[in-house]
Amino acid sequence: MQENEEALYRQAVPYLLDWYDANARILPWREEKNAYHTWISEIMLQQTRVEAVRGYYNRFLRELPDIPSLCKAPTEQLLKLWEGLGYYSRVRNLQKAANIVCEKYGGVLPSDYEQLKTLPGIGTYTAGAIASIAYDAAVPAVDGNVLRVMKRISGSRDDITRESVKKALFSTLQSVIPTDRPGDFNQAVMDLGAGICVPNAEPHCKECPVMHLCKTFREGTWREIPYKPALKKRRVEQRTVLVIKCQGRYLLHKRADNGLLAGLWEIPAVPEKMDEKKAIAQAQELLLQLPFKKNASPLFKKVDKLPDAKHIFSHVEWRMSGYLLTAPKEASALPEQIAADYALVDLETIRTRYSLPSAFSAYLKEIKRLEENAQGAQEKKGNDQ
Ligand code: ADE
Repeated sequence: MQENEEALYRQAVPYLLDWYDANARILPWREEKNAYHTWISEIMLQQTRVEAVRGYYNRFLRELPDIPSLCKAPTEQLLKLWEGLGYYSRVRNLQKAANIVCEKYGGVLPSDYEQLKTLPGIGTYTAGAIASIAYDAAVPAVDGNVLRVMKRISGSRDDITRESVKKALFSTLQSVIPTDRPGDFNQAVMDLGAGICVPNAEPHCKECPVMHLCKTFREGTWREIPYKPALKKRRVEQRTVLVIKCQGRYLLHKRADNGLLAGLWEIPAVPEKMDEKKAIAQAQELLLQLPFKKNASPLFKKVDKLPDAKHIFSHVEWRMSGYLLTAPKEASALPEQIAADYALVDLETIRTRYSLPSAFSAYLKEIKRLEENAQGAQEKKGNDQ
């Protein structure tokens, strides 16, 4: 099979390149050949759609135009630049890798595929993309999109979730990739996968430059290829989000340095579904661990139920219920950094300096809505007087 695949892919190369010449997407990271630009775009594109990446990419390069500036950037700035993109370990790895590039490679990203792979956050796909696009190295870049396109062309029913299948495709493509235009070949397949040979919907085969070579088109089997066994179900976790408000400021918690959303700020939450009474007791216990006045009783002058929300990560789904717990005045004469992993901050500061993961955006929106309502009521009162 591999031999047939190789011959077929070799036949496809000139059609793919011609198609790319006429149809390549105009993307900011394609404007000039620059390894740093390719690197940043590829890391952003690892888990995020092209359209969503554009704005983030432009802002990132405006603020951090080169590798030395990335090395020096404070963590808060990096997290802010990444806020909303998710998978924050990507940006932490970017900086770790930038430091290595400065120390070991004189500030220039290596062009060698094997050396690229040793850098944090750069796996086989990203190393192939950077080496081929920025340095014209004849290396394939095989991700899910490329697997889909190539397996459809050959009509192979290999299980594309298997590492061995991915490795075999890499090695087949390595022998057919055009040595004069490796980056264009890889990007042609990416663009074909994004616009024509699309996932989860009928591909636009009539517009495909390799339709005449494609076994899946001939046999009408696009629903079956690429083949993937059924996914394992996501684990569902119940959580109760405790929005604790002290005179216009909100309590935030810094998550542990490992695991999901490592080291990021969050709205405090407990991993179970709680009724109001239990949520109040939990919040009270939390505040009493912090330097709140121990004799302030009751600790909350007002408790409101917030709407339920859910957030889907790759392996876990959070089902959240929430409460807004408003503390009395005497609990509020406290500094911003109330403890090593707790902060008390107003909404504007949350927006500008703390990068809350999008898992909490429903509650952040709710806080904003309540503040706007309160402000509206205040203004109305002022007008009525
Ligand atoms: N997806 C991942 N890398 C890409 C690139 N360089 N161009 C377009 N889409 C991509």
